[in-house]
Amino acid sequence: MSSKRILLIIGGGIAAYKSLELIRTLAKRGISSRCILTKGGAEFVTPLSVSALSGDKCYSDLFSLDDEAEMGHIELSRSADLVVVCPATADLLAKASGGHANDLASTTLMATDKPVLMVPAMNVRMWEHAATARNVATLRADGVDVMEPDTGAMACGEFGPGRLPEVEVIADRVEASLARLTGPKPLEGRHVLLTAGPTREPMDPVRYLSNHSSGKQGYAIAGALADLGARVTLVSGPVSLAPPRGVDLVQVETARQMMAACEAALPADVFVSVAAVADWRPATRADRKLKLKEEGKGPPTLSLSENPDILATISRMTEGRPELVIGFAAETDSVEENAALKRERKGCDWIVANDVSGDVMGGSDNEIALVTATGVERWPRMGKLLVARQLAERVADYFVDSGKPRVAAE
Ligand code: CTP
Repeated sequence: MSSKRILLIIGGGIAAYKSLELIRTLAKRGISSRCILTKGGAEFVTPLSVSALSGDKCYSDLFSLDDEAEMGHIELSRSADLVVVCPATADLLAKASGGHANDLASTTLMATDKPVLMVPAMNVRMWEHAATARNVATLRADGVDVMEPDTGAMACGEFGPGRLPEVEVIADRVEASLARLTGPKPLEGRHVLLTAGPTREPMDPVRYLSNHSSGKQGYAIAGALADLGARVTLVSGPVSLAPPRGVDLVQVETARQMMAACEAALPADVFVSVAAVADWRPATRADRKLKLKEEGKGPPTLSLSENPDILATISRMTEGRPELVIGFAAETDSVEENAALKRERKGCDWIVANDVSGDVMGGSDNEIALVTATGVERWPRMGKLLVARQLAERVADYFVDSGKPRVAAE
């Protein structure tokens, strides 16, 4: 295990005690923590327990001559690979988004040149307050990774979002962030083109045909491929997700716009078609809102035109076809058989067969089978992030094994 270090800022909330468990969990994974305890944090956990568990000094005072003699706050802010704020209170989020620097924690967040991961925990009303939503949006736009809190019963007796996520889940996120920052980059110099999310096919200015795709799986795969060093172009339909770090996002609405954006982004070494592209669009798009209820007339007829099949089009390119083309097959029955047929019909190399009979669309888990020319590999049910990481590893392995030169490096 390599020695990796985080700088952990412990804010003043009831969840502060869980930061102690986080220090231990990370230590077991070979990640050491250097800690800053805020004034509020010290009301919930003691510097002594923090220091005993981290095996390091616990820093808390911006104006401490002792601390400054040992390590100045600027140096402290850069002494780790990643800064983690856990729990990130409403106050810490507000300070960080507004650029305040009046104590050691906020000064460190302003002075650091390292990526920052924030793990919010607070009362449900505070989390849902417009000010907090604004601060979180600002921080995310500034490139800070702000985790979503869990939903459930809170220490204050209320119920809703605002709970600190499970310590193991936080540790996974820390580990993934560190892997991204310090891990090997086998896809360096490769260009990956990826589609995600639904498409929206307008009938008139207010109505459209679409589907329930959340974009979660596609965004996770884009992020995992970028983590392995790929240059990723993510062509996305309308979703409510922040793009992963280091990914070039192209936003589109319709299937035809998605097709055009993909063509514009080629050449690529890999094409991953995760989007739930609408197969059909209303044959005409009215400029004005259609009157769908007319006295004496029955239900209106909707004429449809076929959309381009983006996956099949790219799979069948005779010139400049990406080396590896991966499709998805959303199926509700005979999943593997249908996926294998779809692979041949569309002409792609791999197909990720996806059982969407449960709560996959919008949910966090996925159960998939990878169908290639040589057979079917069933993966156990797992989180979409893990599916993404494993698929990205498989793509990296493919290029290592094929020994193919990089064709689309910028
Ligand atoms: N796909 C695409 N363009 C389309 C339709 C689908 O690129 N117009 C891609 C999807 O991104 C996915 C794969 O094709 O990678 C299969 O999508 P799916 O919806 O499962 O299949 P369909 O082609 O729609 O076939 P069916 O509805 O009959 O299952």
